[in-house]
Amino acid sequence: MNNSKILFFMGKGGTGKSTVSAILGLMLAESKKKVVVISLDSAHNLSDIYETPLAHKPREIDPFLYAGEIDQEKMIQKYLKDVQISLKRRYSYLTAFNIENYFDILRYSPGLEEYALMLAFNNIIEKFSGFDYIIFDMPPTALSLKFFNLPFLSGKWIEHLENLRCEINKKREIISRVRFAGKEYERDKILSKIRELKDQYQSVGEIFQDSDRTGVFTVINYDSLAVSETLRIFNSLEKIKISMKKIIWNRKRKGDSFDDIDNSFSSVPFFSLPFSRERLTGFKALNNYIRTVDLKISDFL
Ligand SMILES: Nc1ncnc2c1ncn2[C@@H]1O[C@H](COP(=O)(O)OP(=O)(O)OP(=O)(O)O)[C@@H](O)[C@H]1O
Ligand SMILES: [Mg+2]
Repeated sequence: MNNSKILFFMGKGGTGKSTVSAILGLMLAESKKKVVVISLDSAHNLSDIYETPLAHKPREIDPFLYAGEIDQEKMIQKYLKDVQISLKRRYSYLTAFNIENYFDILRYSPGLEEYALMLAFNNIIEKFSGFDYIIFDMPPTALSLKFFNLPFLSGKWIEHLENLRCEINKKREIISRVRFAGKEYERDKILSKIRELKDQYQSVGEIFQDSDRTGVFTVINYDSLAVSETLRIFNSLEKIKISMKKIIWNRKRKGDSFDDIDNSFSSVPFFSLPFSRERLTGFKALNNYIRTVDLKISDFL
């Protein structure tokens, strides 16, 4: 059964998303929970933080901890290949129009990046369905928000397509009845494909909105730009009924006070992680930090 908890780490560039994802991954693995940490940001730094080589295919770091860095370009190529195969199969009569030309256009079509992220997301949650936790270190805010919006926007769009296709089929049926009375009408492959996509978007949207299963964390620093970006994330997610689980105020130094933050996000719990003088790379340093600041899994969850 697929019921692993899914945790996303978002926030302004450089606030510490990858470091905090890596730390939580270590803590969960330490408590004997099976966890996979996945970087969805194409400017990866998870392998630098763990000081261990990571690739597109997640690998075992210890029996409880897996990690990987998704190759976005690979996902885009995979998507284009799938589209190419399926179009060629469905529209074989169009080869005269040189279908290849369309793929060049498709490569630059809007939405491709977030679609590739969704493919990666689906692959990972399926592949690691037996794990307790799946942690996603997210790309920059703009792309992450497009990714979260994708199932809802596409869902609406695909519903229109479905209606349109049903209308077309109704008309075609009338014509075919007149022409070939009594002939059983062939199942519409295009309508089946549309419905398959609709279900796919719907189930991803449901996962995003399921606050028992899914948690979105935002990492901030003592910096007003990071705070305003967090407010944007909060408002954008709220519109699509995705709640923010916690705000993590990272790199907090003595004397920093964030009174204004309480007002902006009064409904979102937050906790702080102190500034570390030691470099936070490598398992030893990360574990040392966890111990020194006495960090608990319950701080996050
Ligand atoms: N609590 C901390 N104390 C001190 N340094 C920290 C802390 N957390 C993160 N850092 C450092 O801050 C820098 C940025 O962290 P990190 O790479 O995790 O951020 P990021 O949000 O993933 O960045 P990007 O947006 O580039 O992916 C790194 O050098 C990291 O070691
Ligand atoms: Mg990062």
